[in-house]
Amino acid sequence: GRVIRVALLGCGTVGGEVVRLLTEQAEELAARAGARVELAGIAVRRPDKHPELPPELVTSDVTKLVTSPDVDVVVELVGGIEPVRQWLLDALKAGKSVVTANKALLAEHSAELFEAADAAGVDLYFEAAVAGAIPLLRPLRESMAGDRITRVMGIVNGTTNYILSAMDSTGAGYAETLEEASRLGYAEADPTADVDGYDAASKAAILASLAFHTRVTASDVHREGIADVTASDLAAANVLGRTVKLLAICERVTADDGTESVSARVHPVMIPRGHQLAGVGGAYNAVYVEADAAGELMFYGQGAGGAPTASAVLGDLVAVARNRVVGGRGPRESAHAALPVRPMGQT
Ligand code: HSE
Repeated sequence: GRVIRVALLGCGTVGGEVVRLLTEQAEELAARAGARVELAGIAVRRPDKHPELPPELVTSDVTKLVTSPDVDVVVELVGGIEPVRQWLLDALKAGKSVVTANKALLAEHSAELFEAADAAGVDLYFEAAVAGAIPLLRPLRESMAGDRITRVMGIVNGTTNYILSAMDSTGAGYAETLEEASRLGYAEADPTADVDGYDAASKAAILASLAFHTRVTASDVHREGIADVTASDLAAANVLGRTVKLLAICERVTADDGTESVSARVHPVMIPRGHQLAGVGGAYNAVYVEADAAGELMFYGQGAGGAPTASAVLGDLVAVARNRVVGGRGPRESAHAALPVRPMGQT
């Protein structure tokens, strides 16, 4: 039977779960994908730090691995922009499909990556980049492609949601709560990306780009994190029957003269306790999508952590494998409306 060979870049919290699921569910995945999905190599920065991995698969030579004729699909879980951008461009140019969870890279360089995928006629899938396990990007790209989306709003960062929820319910301090979030594997290696709102802003850029068929980059997103939210802010919100959540809000805006543009912002919001988003706790994410014909939809689930994020990666891997088996491709991103993005901070 056919075999789809996978190069895995990065083997941390999420990558370890991807390896586990690929191994434990090999038979089921093969049946669903129509091909065996096998690891051809695992690139890690420090091979000596990974005694748990089969030594014959482990390498630190990423460029060689991503362009190897033995590889069909590259799964990227390293994060950050360089050198990952170059690795993925090399992989796409060499005809490999790419699955990535890299929101920072997509929020900055999606145009270049989509063009490289189109030129090579291969897939670029990235469901795990936004809201972990929650199927959200594929609904926006595919299921809702016939509708006109007007708004995407919600909680897209598990770390800050965990911190705000814990501070709200226990009255605990910010620093100790952040430490716990890191221990649980929610926070990024550098939690600044989470607490200062960069992670959520990257996700907002990706959501706005897909929802409104335009190009929004992270620098277009007005951004405020939770570093200035104190225990007394939460106590004050409590007195008002409210709580504080970090929200990403992406909207289609129509001016008085009828011209349309897109606005995207991330900031803490005091919301009534009765609001559905107020009840979203832990590393959970929840996103509302409003569209002309569909009305209001809500997506809810685990937005961070090893296994939930690996679920989205595996789903993409099966989709990409299926496409390769039939010689087809998933949705393309090349045709974009030129909807302008409003300057930062304007709403
Ligand atoms: N650090 C991110 C979060 C991981 O807390 O949501 C998922 O993207």
